[in-house]
Amino acid sequence: MTQDSRLPVAVLGATGMVGQYAIARLSHHPWFEVVALAASERHEGSPYKACCSWWLPGDIPPAAAELSLLACKPDQLPTGVQLVFSALPAGPAREIEAAFAQAGKAVFSNARAYRLDPTVPLLAADINPWQLSALEGQRAAHGWTGSIVAQANCTTTILATALAPLQAFGIRRVLTVTYQSVSGVGYPGVPSLAILGNVVPFIRGEEECVQQDLVTLLGEWDGGHGFRPAAFPTSALCARVPTVRGHLASVSLELERCVVHEQLIAAWERYVPETVGWELPSAPRQTLAYVRDDARPQPALDWQTGNGMTVSVGRLQPCPALGENGYSFWVVGDTLGRGAVGGSLLNAELFVARGFLREMEEARELALHRGET
Ligand SMILES: NC(=O)c1ccc[n+]([C@@H]2O[C@H](COP(=O)([O-])OP(=O)(O)OC[C@H]3O[C@@H](n4cnc5c(N)ncnc54)[C@H](OP(=O)(O)O)[C@@H]3O)[C@@H](O)[C@H]2O)c1
Repeated sequence: MTQDSRLPVAVLGATGMVGQYAIARLSHHPWFEVVALAASERHEGSPYKACCSWWLPGDIPPAAAELSLLACKPDQLPTGVQLVFSALPAGPAREIEAAFAQAGKAVFSNARAYRLDPTVPLLAADINPWQLSALEGQRAAHGWTGSIVAQANCTTTILATALAPLQAFGIRRVLTVTYQSVSGVGYPGVPSLAILGNVVPFIRGEEECVQQDLVTLLGEWDGGHGFRPAAFPTSALCARVPTVRGHLASVSLELERCVVHEQLIAAWERYVPETVGWELPSAPRQTLAYVRDDARPQPALDWQTGNGMTVSVGRLQPCPALGENGYSFWVVGDTLGRGAVGGSLLNAELFVARGFLREMEEARELALHRGET
C-alpha cells in the first residue's frame, strides 16, 4: 500500500489515554490515515488540540491537532471511512460500537463491552487468528452490515502471548500475580495519594477478567460449535503498583510433562507468530524475548522492546509447589502497545490483509443491490 492509498480511519475516545496513543501510532502508519476523531458530546465541534490534555512526549501529530472533534455517531464520519478504532469506556462502548457496526463500519475495540459475545472475535492476531472465524455468525446474530473485533484486556493479552508457545507442552494450570502500572487506568488515573509509595491489591473486575479472557484467547475454534476455551484452570491476583508504563506479572504453571528449561526458552525465542507471512506493519521482529539477566524483565527497562509489541519473559525456574512439572517465570509487556493500541492495530492489519474488509464491502453492496438495507 502506498502513502497515497492509505485507508481513512476514525478514532473514538480520541481524547483519552488509549485514544491519544492510537493517534500517535497511526500518525506514521503505512496503511491507515486518521481522518476523523470523536469523543463525548461535550467536546463536539471543538478543535482536538483545544480539548485534549496530551500526555505523550512530543506534540500532537499536526494532522490530528487541527481536526474538529465529532460526537460518536456514525453519520458524522466523513465518506469513505470503513475502519474505526474504539477507545471508549465499556459503558458507552456497548451502544456506540453497535451503532457503528450497524452502519457498516469495521470496529476494532479496546473496550470490554463485547468481549464475552461468542460472535465477537477476541483477537490477538499473532496467537489466535482463528478467532476471526466468529465473524461468520456475527452478521446473522446481530444484523450488522459491519463488524466488531475485540482486543482482550491489556494484562491478559500480555500473559496469553507468553503462554501461547507453552501450549505445545500441555498446560495443566496457571497461577498469576500481576503488578499493573497506572497507565492502565486511563487519564487522570489513580489519585497520587492512593498510589505513591503504595501497592493497591485490588483492581475492580480485573481478576475475573484475566481468568476468563486468558482461556478464551488460548482456546480453539471448533467449527460450527464456535469457540472452545482452553481447558486448564487459572487463578489471578491483580495489584496496581506505582509504575507508569508496562505491566509485570509472575506466572507459575504446571505442564503435562517435564521439560528442560532450555527447551522452554527456545519455545519463546523461536516462536513463529501466526501473522508470519502477512508482513503486517505493527508486527514486531520478535513476538517474545527471553531476557537472560537475573534482575529482569523490569517494566521500566523492558516495556519498549519491539516498539512496545514484544513481550519479555525471564527468570525461568522450577516451581516445587506445583510438583516436578512446575515452572515459574516473570513477564513484562507494554500496557498500551501490545496490551491495547498496538494489539488492535495488528488485529486491523490482519483483518485487511486477509480480505475481510473487502468481503464486508462486497456483502454490503450486494445487500444494497437487493434492497435489503
Ligand atoms: N489505559 C489502558 O492501558 C487500557 C488498556 C487496554 C484497554 N483499555 C480500555 O480502553 C478504553 C479507553 O481507556 P482509556 O484508558 O483511554 O480511558 P480514558 O482515558 O478515560 O478515555 C475515555 C475516552 O472516551 C470518551 N468518552 C467517555 N465517555 C463517553 C461517552 N459517553 N460518549 C463518547 N465518548 C466518551 C472520552 O471523551 P471525553 O474526553 O470527551 O470525555 C475519552 O476520549 C477503556 O474501555 C479501557 O478499559 C485501556
